[in-house]
Amino acid sequence: MSPRIKKLVRLVVIGGLVIGVGIQLVPVKGVGVNPPDRFPLGAPPEVEAIMRRACLDCHSNETRWPLYSRTAPGSWLMIRDVTKGRKHLNFSEWGDSDEDERKLDRENCWDQIESGEMPPWFYVYPLHLGAKLSEADKATLKAWMLKDKDKDDGAPKADAPADKK
Ligand code: HEC
Repeated sequence: MSPRIKKLVRLVVIGGLVIGVGIQLVPVKGVGVNPPDRFPLGAPPEVEAIMRRACLDCHSNETRWPLYSRTAPGSWLMIRDVTKGRKHLNFSEWGDSDEDERKLDRENCWDQIESGEMPPWFYVYPLHLGAKLSEADKATLKAWMLKDKDKDDGAPKADAPADKK
């Protein structure tokens, strides 16, 4: 290597280290914080086990916070997903919703899984390969998520008020 290239490489390495350490100083609010888990999921254990590895990091107050999720820039991405995920659907707060809402949420969940939107691919690859859903996992989830789909909730369809959400 010519001295000029060597110098350049050294600059890039040192620059990278400075930036890598420097970004750790940017405060990230909420990382590592789990509000109380207020309600059990209330699903059969085999369903809960699958959701625990594929959904609950972002959709509950039981988020696991490994080292890379506490280290920038991982922490920035993680807090964004957890904040948004919990806001859309939080299984730890779910007990506050009535049975109709929970039924809708479950059906929504199945739509997201069937269409491949959830769990998000960037969550699965490469850090959470365990969140990848097998066909058997999907069948287990589907059975629970659609268990009340055809149940008539007794509400008259024609003059039912428009969707609450
Ligand atoms: C990496 C975090 C993450 C994981 C893991 C994840 N989600 Fe999500 N989920 C989100 C985010 C963020 C949104 C908000 C929509 C968006 O911004 O794309 C969302 C939206 C949703 C919605 C739509 C809610 C609404 O209000 O319309 C459903 C349903 C859902 N997720 C179900 C699931 C299920 C079921 C799993 C597991 C199989 C799962 N998610 C795994 C982050 C995640």
